[in-house]
Amino acid sequence: MEDAIVRAAEAGGRGGAATVAPLAHTFRFFKRELEAHLVKEEEMLFPLVRQIEEAAKLAGERPRLAFGSIAHPINLLREDHQAEQRQLQRMLKMTENYSGPAEIATIYRSIAEQLRALEADMRVHVYLEDEILFPRARSLENGL
Ligand SMILES: [Fe+2]
Ligand SMILES: [Fe+2]
Repeated sequence: MEDAIVRAAEAGGRGGAATVAPLAHTFRFFKRELEAHLVKEEEMLFPLVRQIEEAAKLAGERPRLAFGSIAHPINLLREDHQAEQRQLQRMLKMTENYSGPAEIATIYRSIAEQLRALEADMRVHVYLEDEILFPRARSLENGL
């Protein structure tokens, strides 16, 4: 998708570059945030969830977490989800109803299509975590 955004900027020349710049900026920001989010999950939250599940299975003690309850990292990740979804909506708005130069419009249609696919994947990601994994981890923790 980044390639398509670069192509759109090139196709539009100077005028086009000005139109494309906010999209490119939002996309780079989104990508960086999402990558950082995935690292936070893999390296911070998921190991904690595993610890809590192990403790629950063994009817053991509540793991001592540096920041208290698992609710804290969960809330941070939920905020990430909301921010990422807002950025996707912003990019969809920029690309879906674009009425600028035809060359850019064609590229934007393909970007919009990819954004919609990404948005659908993101919705599944957020649903599985916000609605299933996170509540389950919290209730396991509460039971310890
Ligand atoms: Fe995830
Ligand atoms: Fe997530």
